[in-house]
Order: sequence, then C-alpha cells, then structure tokens
Amino acid sequence: MEIKNKVAVVTGSAGGLGKAMLERLGARGAICIVTDINADGVQNAVDDLKSKGMQAHGIVCNVAQEESVEQLFQKIRTDHGRLDVAVLNAGILRDGLLIRFNKATGKIKGKMSLEQWQSVIDVNLTGVFLTAREAAAHMAELGNGGVIVPIASVAMHGNPGQTNYSAAKAGVAAMTRLWTRELSKFQIRVAGIAPGFIATEMVMKDMNQKALEAWKEKIPIGRLGEPDEIAHTLEFIVENDLVSGVVLEISGGIHI
Ligand SMILES: NC(=O)c1ccc[n+]([C@@H]2O[C@H](COP(=O)([O-])OP(=O)(O)OC[C@H]3O[C@@H](n4cnc5c(N)ncnc54)[C@H](O)[C@@H]3O)[C@@H](O)[C@H]2O)c1
Repeated sequence: MEIKNKVAVVTGSAGGLGKAMLERLGARGAICIVTDINADGVQNAVDDLKSKGMQAHGIVCNVAQEESVEQLFQKIRTDHGRLDVAVLNAGILRDGLLIRFNKATGKIKGKMSLEQWQSVIDVNLTGVFLTAREAAAHMAELGNGGVIVPIASVAMHGNPGQTNYSAAKAGVAAMTRLWTRELSKFQIRVAGIAPGFIATEMVMKDMNQKALEAWKEKIPIGRLGEPDEIAHTLEFIVENDLVSGVVLEISGGIHI
C-alpha cells in the first residue's frame, strides 16, 4: 500500500510505540489519527506531530468500551471519508505471579486478583477485538481494502509473572491469523507485530526493574529495542502487500 495521503489510526498513540508508529507514517505523508485514553497526551502528541509538519488529528477513546470505540471509527469516517490503516496498539501491564507461597509458613501469601486479570484482558484482548471489529466493518463498507496491525508481544508464548498479559497477547496472535482469512475477501490484510523489550514507559516504569535487568542480559543483540525500530516494522507491513497472516517477532533475538 502506498502510504501517502492514507488515513492511519493507532490506538494508545499518546506516547510509546503508538506515537513512534504515527511519526513514521506521518513522515511519509499519511493522515495521522492519534487516539488514547489520556486526553492531554492526545493533544500533546497531535501538537508534536503537527510541529514536525505532519497531518494529525486527535480523538480520545477508551478501547475497552464498546461505545467509545464505535464513536472513534464513526468520527474518522465522517471526518475523512476513508480508513486505510488501523494499528491496535493500546495496552497495559499488571504483572504478578499466579500464586505467591510463603516457604516458612507453608501458606499462600498472595494471588493474582481477578481485577488484575480482568483489567489486562479488558484492554489488551477485548480492546483489540473491539477496535479490529470496527476498523474491519468500516473498511469493508468503504470498499478500499486496508491493513489491520494488532500489536502482540513475545510474551504471547507464556512469560512467567504475566498470566494475564501472556493470555491476552496469545489471543491477539490467534485473532491476527484468523482475521487474515475472514477479511481477505474485503482486500483487508492483517499482520501483527510481537515486540520484545522496547524502551518505552511500559518497560522503563511499569515493569519490575529487577526482572528487566535479568531479561536485558539475555537479549542477543545486547540492548533494548527502540520504538522507531517497531515503527519501521509497521512501515514495512503497510507498504508490502505480500505481508499478511503473520505475527512478526521483533525482539533483538530474544525468545520466551
Ligand atoms: N514496550 C515494550 O517492550 C513492548 C513489548 C511488547 C509489546 N508491547 C505492546 O506494545 C503496545 C504499546 O506499548 P508501549 O510500550 O508503547 O506502552 P506505553 O505504556 O508507553 O503506551 C501505551 C498507551 O496505551 C494507552 N492506553 C492504556 N489503556 C488504554 C485504553 N483503555 N484505551 C486507550 N488507550 C489506552 C496509554 O495511555 C498509553 O499512551 C502495548 O500493546 C504493549 O503491550 C510493548
């Protein structure tokens, strides 16, 4: 797909990987739709992209709420009359072990709470389902095809301490492959990205820093990834019409 003048929405794009992805597409002439639950963040990202000479518009949306997602895509269609690229990127971490055991007493001292499980499932799995559904519905009706890019994680293979997150990301990877087949009749391609450890707020602030140090030692290229390296992968997926039905692991060689 030619990127210039195409309408591209990235959920969770107030910062981190989402904003980096819009910067890549915006630099190539795409019309960037910044959307995030963080309203100030949306405004700041739009201002920043515009200051770099890009076309950017902001819409606040909570991907975990059906009505909010429906309104997001309806507004994009009303304002721009097309939708070409949808990146399903919004995500959160609420890490913890399934159970924590006190060796001295032989008793359980903690469990992953239902709230901890559900909050991650709501954003990282239900949010991806809702945004893909609305993106696909509008793309199909508009009749110009499109590209849908769900963001998974290498944790989709099952990372200890991330029951909720790994389950959601494995679901995202499965949906990516099945949507490829369901949506091909509308000329919609679906291809996912599963990043490794990338230097964003999620990793530098939200992740357990001891666990991060241990993981860093194991990354074959010897460093964390940069957000622009994931954005580069998105640019490749959007441009290359042969890419569909895969989840590209971009991780500096680390395997979970
Ligand atoms: N950074 C990494 O190493 C890494 C690795 C693998 C996968 N990922 C995935 O990449 C995506 C982006 O991660 P990031 O590192 O940029 O994280 P980040 O925390 O920097 O950014 C996530 C953005 O999502 C937004 N968000 C959270 N809940 C939302 C909701 N309900 N509705 C709309 N927006 C919401 C946040 O406000 C934030 O701006 C996530 O899906 C994450 O799981 C990140």
